[in-house]
Amino acid sequence: MGKLKVGILISGRGSNMAALIDAATADYPAEIACVLSNVADAAGLAVARAAGIATAVVSHKAFADRESFDRAVSGELEKRGVELVALAGFMRIQSAWFVERWQGRLVNIHPSLLPAFPGLRVQQQAIDAGVRISGCTVHFVTAELDAGPIIAQAAVPVLAGDNAETLAARILRQEHRLYPQVVRWLAEGRVSVAGSHAHVTGLPEGATVLFSAEP
Ligand code: GRF
Repeated sequence: MGKLKVGILISGRGSNMAALIDAATADYPAEIACVLSNVADAAGLAVARAAGIATAVVSHKAFADRESFDRAVSGELEKRGVELVALAGFMRIQSAWFVERWQGRLVNIHPSLLPAFPGLRVQQQAIDAGVRISGCTVHFVTAELDAGPIIAQAAVPVLAGDNAETLAARILRQEHRLYPQVVRWLAEGRVSVAGSHAHVTGLPEGATVLFSAEP
């Protein structure tokens, strides 16, 4: 069976993108077909190019509305034969049209244990709330922001001396473990959705939960 073709959408640094590219260089059921950014000078684009991955830039500023931007993005992905879209720090909210077009084939990684702390500045939200555990979530994207079916989560401690940066760094290390695992399961056809729940089959109980006690 051929490898699943993944398109990654980024707006910035692209460390999750890099983790996916790395994973795909080894024995892996998915290949990174392209990396697309809405920001021409996103640092991640250079990383992707250096790894020999096709890149594209579609600036949202060139479009009158969200849907026409999304249609252009979708066209680029289709040109490359993309079958799964992985958002990795893509800072655009997508239109209902895009979400519908890629339904069940559009995933995102978010740096909190959803449904806690959707939106932006989430590490600061976690610190302000005084939670003792935070982490990251890989989920399907639906029309509601950061609210689609959860595929897997990784948990980390929130330490007394943390600020948003130290917590973000701790969570990010787990993001880099979790996202490649989930894309593997998607490529292996293990992930299904029933209503608001995602199910991953054929794995040991608990495989979709990672814990890291590392400070
Ligand atoms: C990550 O924390 C991701 O969870 C969030 O945006 C950040 C992107 O970081 N959606 P990077 O560009 O992957 O380094």
